Amino acid sequence: MSARKIIIDTDPGQDDAVAILLALASPEEIDVLGITAVAGNVPLALTSKNARIVCELAGKPDTKVFEGCDRPMGRELVTAEHVHGKTGLNGPVLPDPVMEVEDQHAVDFIIDTLRAHDAGTVTLCPLGPLTNIGTAFEKAPDIIEKVQEIVLMGGAYFEVGNITPAAEFNIYVDPQAADIVFKSGVPIVVMPLDVTHKALVTKPRNDAFRNLGTKVGTAVAEMTDFFERFDKEKYGSDGAPLHDPCVTAYLIQPELFSGRHINVEIETQSELTMGMTVADWWRVTDRTPNAMFIGDVDADGFFSLLVERLSRL
Ligand code: RIB
Ligand code: CA
Repeated sequence: MSARKIIIDTDPGQDDAVAILLALASPEEIDVLGITAVAGNVPLALTSKNARIVCELAGKPDTKVFEGCDRPMGRELVTAEHVHGKTGLNGPVLPDPVMEVEDQHAVDFIIDTLRAHDAGTVTLCPLGPLTNIGTAFEKAPDIIEKVQEIVLMGGAYFEVGNITPAAEFNIYVDPQAADIVFKSGVPIVVMPLDVTHKALVTKPRNDAFRNLGTKVGTAVAEMTDFFERFDKEKYGSDGAPLHDPCVTAYLIQPELFSGRHINVEIETQSELTMGMTVADWWRVTDRTPNAMFIGDVDADGFFSLLVERLSRL
């Protein structure tokens, strides 16, 4: 089977970094057409820089990285340095990127790429706030029907919020963009906190990264050493949740994951629950199902895949 063509839309972020590494280590399954940076965990200038740092860490400096929106569609930017550190990639000491960012705006790259490919052949993989995707859909509605699938990290139901009591960070930062995406009619696979909180980098798992004895393995272990503080303190969890790599692992081995095709809508009015993903998990409404909402993962299988693929870089 030919590799799936994807655009990774991202706000690196240590977990975004691991998701990008996994994608770049898997060319048989994933053809990364481009990486589009968006403001999220840290401001755009840093997410753009971090995306390029990760591409060079992977030994893939020819990867095309584009800069997108530097603020949400209708709200002030909220960032997450308290989780990811001031640079957004705290943990390892990595060299500044040599590769340049592309001249084209990320939103125009998304639009042009979808227009240039046959319908149903390009998958969008948002790992941060949905600002670039929502803006592209609003600017060029003709591209919506051309998208093969959106596989995103965001939202929560049973796990509820990680940035407010009700909302997960990616959706909270740009609920307007998320609303556009979830109402677009594009087939969506959602990796919410419900599943990503089951993909925890326990000490044995982090040791497996470190024991690769490679630049990539050591960098990932050091990213996790930093990134895990927040979740360990807040949730008492047994390690850092690898949120975003659930997206790229799904593209490679979807059988690792399970969920339900349900209706998911976004709170965009109430400040109390702004950005909440209102997931009809128990199907108590007659709202039309619009998303495969993932609730479970074979965590051991996920980490075996991750270690094997990272060992290739
Ligand atoms: O809530 C977790 C999500 O927000 C992850 O994508 C993390 O990188 C941040 O963007
Ligand atoms: Ca992210």
